[in-house]
Amino acid sequence: MTILVVATGNPGKVREMQSYLADFGWELQLKPPELDVEETEETFMSNARLKATEVAKATGEWAIADDSGLEVRALGGVPGVHSARYGTTDANRIERLLRELGDNSNRQAQFVCAVAIARPDGSIALQAEGTCPGEILKAPRGSGGFGYDPIFYVESEDMTFAEMPPETKKRLSHRGRAFQALLPQLKNLET
Ligand code: IMP
Repeated sequence: MTILVVATGNPGKVREMQSYLADFGWELQLKPPELDVEETEETFMSNARLKATEVAKATGEWAIADDSGLEVRALGGVPGVHSARYGTTDANRIERLLRELGDNSNRQAQFVCAVAIARPDGSIALQAEGTCPGEILKAPRGSGGFGYDPIFYVESEDMTFAEMPPETKKRLSHRGRAFQALLPQLKNLET
């Protein structure tokens, strides 16, 4: 089995990726904790590529990385690649976003997820991006999920991400869509 190092310190992300990649012959491993790659780029894809490349080169194994976040149209795409650093807790990230958006009638937003896989020499073998459009509510709704989920409303389901059953979120979400775009390419990859 080919080892695929996941460029994250978050075991939850490894489990989630495992579920997307279940049918492929990869053995997923968490990256070594001392190996930390800073997200210094200005796009989700550049950050995903950077993390995959650095982790592959440092471990000498195949590596997968993702970068994701929320872009709010009326705020010019903010918080974007800074979504995780927009506040210190989920609650204050949400509170800051609602405050900055105020009563603005344009509530359009999208979640974006970029995924990249690097070969052991650091070169990028595959990449894919997924987006999920929605609207920012004026107050949180629902108790599932994480991050900005309670204020992100998806019209087709008439639910926020935090109200959706996990399977529905997995199918519709930016991360789900990025993996759906990645999987057909993975089948043709020479390891
Ligand atoms: P990263 O991709 O781990 O660098 O961080 C992405 C940040 O964007 C998270 O900390 C969340 O704040 C936010 N985010 C990304 N995906 C989601 C999601 O599916 N729901 C809610 N928030 C998300």
